[in-house]
Amino acid sequence: MMTTSNTQVLDKNTDLIPLNGTDYIELYVSNAKQAAYYYQSAFGFQPLAFAGLETGQKDFESFVVVQDKIKLVLTSPLHSGTTIGEHIDKHGDGVKVNALWVDDATFAYNNAIEKGAQSYMLPTKTEDSDGHVICSGIYSYGEVVHIFVERKNYNGVFLPGFKAWKPFYQPKGIGLKYVDHMVGNVPLGEMNKWVNFYKDVLGFKQIISFDDKDISTQYTSLMSKVMSNGNGRIKFPINEPAAGLKKSQIEEYLDFYEGAGVQHVALASDNIIETVTELKNRGVEFLNVPKTYYDTLLDRVGDIDENLAELRELGILVDRDDEGYLLQIFTKTVNPRPTMFFEIIQRKGANSFGKGNFKALFEAIEREQALRGTL
Ligand code: FE2
Repeated sequence: MMTTSNTQVLDKNTDLIPLNGTDYIELYVSNAKQAAYYYQSAFGFQPLAFAGLETGQKDFESFVVVQDKIKLVLTSPLHSGTTIGEHIDKHGDGVKVNALWVDDATFAYNNAIEKGAQSYMLPTKTEDSDGHVICSGIYSYGEVVHIFVERKNYNGVFLPGFKAWKPFYQPKGIGLKYVDHMVGNVPLGEMNKWVNFYKDVLGFKQIISFDDKDISTQYTSLMSKVMSNGNGRIKFPINEPAAGLKKSQIEEYLDFYEGAGVQHVALASDNIIETVTELKNRGVEFLNVPKTYYDTLLDRVGDIDENLAELRELGILVDRDDEGYLLQIFTKTVNPRPTMFFEIIQRKGANSFGKGNFKALFEAIEREQALRGTL
């Protein structure tokens, strides 16, 4: 039997702030230099820009790496007593900023504040010989912030304050294209608050909802709602734990991250088999799915272009929504704490998500939890 997800457009899109796409994602990490090396070597990012002592920056060092439309900023403090250092002490490495590319960062900010967002950064103009950028910022769940980036008058490599970073070491890309979505974990009872935040402040619509009956395993369950902007380029699923027999994996995240935060960032490829093969060759570890997952896969998702044996070998999941199908795989957590991980996704017509893979993902995480003794 073919299963379809319960996709439904619950709200008309009312984009309050036009968003062109994800501008960059910034992680606060304890060693930005080594993190940059990891994302270059393992994930195929290219060096782009740098800020630190050599650029007159006394408080922190940032490396910017890029792959097609994806920019990651890796930032560490240069001394004690910084807000960056406090963030790392409390949460470990994690996503601090999800930056959104806008045409007018002042309009975006004023609109968001008027609709109830909490201010992180007033509209601020910075400039150098390549032009000027206006950035503004609002808080989201936990300590995560959105920075609106207006760069239409800027031709520099990244942002004013950064210089081009051109090291000799430049490993090849692995076909990652753009940020598909970024998932937040929030405490019990707070999912709807943040769903409404994205609805009210940014005019996002809810494209799908999974309740604890959709996503429950033998031990744990959770609820999830997916918020999207009008052009579909920005998708923010929000998860909250639901009561289960054992400790929910969302609770495990919240315990170790010590609060709400980004659970995973999904990066899109247009050839997931090649991309995942290369990631594995470079040492990236993925959650395992039982081989039995593939026994009934084609009954669930219908015809697919990919070779089933290759998908099974790599552990790539397949799911379907009303418009098409999608292929997904999840890395193991990339930090010492069982917190953040990455997803690699390829969309073949599906613009939303199916519920079958949620369950497969959570069962796979539970096997990891059991090994950690935190289930
Ligand atoms: Fe995801």
